[in-house]
Amino acid sequence: MELAALTGTPFFSVPQHVGGPIVEPELRGGFFRLMDGMLARNQFTNSGPLAVRLEEEMAARFRIAEAVAIANGTLAQLLLLKAIGLVSGEALVSANTFVATAHACEWAGLRPVFCDIDPETLDLSPADCERKMSPGVRAIIPTHVFGVMADMPALGNLARRHGVALLADAAHAFDCDLGGVPPGGFGIPEFLSFHATKFFSTFEGGMVLTGDSSLARELRELRNFGFDRPNDAGKLGLNAKLPEASAAFGLASLPFLEGRVRRLREVRETYIRELADVPGLRIHHLDRFGRNNYRYFALFVEESAFGLSRDELILALRLENILVRDYFHPGCHRQGHYRNNAPRPALVETERALSRILALPTSFVEVEPIVAARAVAGLVREAQARAEEVRRVLRRRTE
Ligand SMILES: Cc1ncc(COP(=O)(O)O)c(C=O)c1O
Repeated sequence: MELAALTGTPFFSVPQHVGGPIVEPELRGGFFRLMDGMLARNQFTNSGPLAVRLEEEMAARFRIAEAVAIANGTLAQLLLLKAIGLVSGEALVSANTFVATAHACEWAGLRPVFCDIDPETLDLSPADCERKMSPGVRAIIPTHVFGVMADMPALGNLARRHGVALLADAAHAFDCDLGGVPPGGFGIPEFLSFHATKFFSTFEGGMVLTGDSSLARELRELRNFGFDRPNDAGKLGLNAKLPEASAAFGLASLPFLEGRVRRLREVRETYIRELADVPGLRIHHLDRFGRNNYRYFALFVEESAFGLSRDELILALRLENILVRDYFHPGCHRQGHYRNNAPRPALVETERALSRILALPTSFVEVEPIVAARAVAGLVREAQARAEEVRRVLRRRTE
């Protein structure tokens, strides 16, 4: 294959994003019908029938008593922390997560303490949490990165022994599980994101899953300005309601999720087939411990064997219009807001993983997914085979 780094011509004529929204063409009809109904009813928000139906569908899907729809995942976490009174002290969180996990802690009044990851799952390490446990810690909040569930039994044990709360960021974990147990099934509240990049999206949106109906009632009041009686805000709430249009998109997507996961699995299998023997690449497993939705495909680039660094490979692929990502690099602990909160000792496994990781696109626009995945893999192989030339050109471009 010809490389854009060498010829100047990108392989893809339109940018292929990691996490571009997934919209099956047939989904549109259902969505527009629901939107028509919404317009006819003239109710756009305030827990309308579509938002309520989405909550019912999700409660059934996750086999949980309560699913509370919220405007986005960040607010779902913030309101959950407020609702259970986690508003001071510290929370043990992974540095390998989207910064929203740490930000929501701070907005609630909890200082995030960044812990290292398990190198196999890339999730919060129970052993490092144990080391960082202190009298100030009030909660442990793991993230199920790329839908690989954190070690909930070990974290649950740790939380119980130290008398602290356990919640989980399940933003990536829609239709994922750990040994058959989905988010919400471990007896603790978990929150989801339905952001446009996610496997299941409502444009923007989020949800709290809980078995506790009084917690669900509190969340429903908090998301609606704190109104616990008509015209009487008995508590300090905010506006975090899910609009009807968002719920409509989620509901219209439901019939397509089975096919979606099948296609994403085929893309994954294509990548694995085409990339397994490339020197210097190691593929991140997703389903060794449970079910996954295959929304993410990540690999690790070992520069000495591959011939290019991870960042050089990113540049070479961007020239092809393949907008790969180095999720979640730099870790939260290295972002400006948290720089004065540097973890000690350093997060060895987090640094190792985040300096090598690369996420490839799993959904594509204007091109058949398997054909596209084969092309992306072919370009990666070619970059490795011609690493020296590619490196020379990239260096000249950045000089
Ligand atoms: C792991 C993780 N946590 C939290 C969030 C925040 O969710 P939202 O964007 O819906 O606020 C996201 C993504 O957006 C995420 O990927």
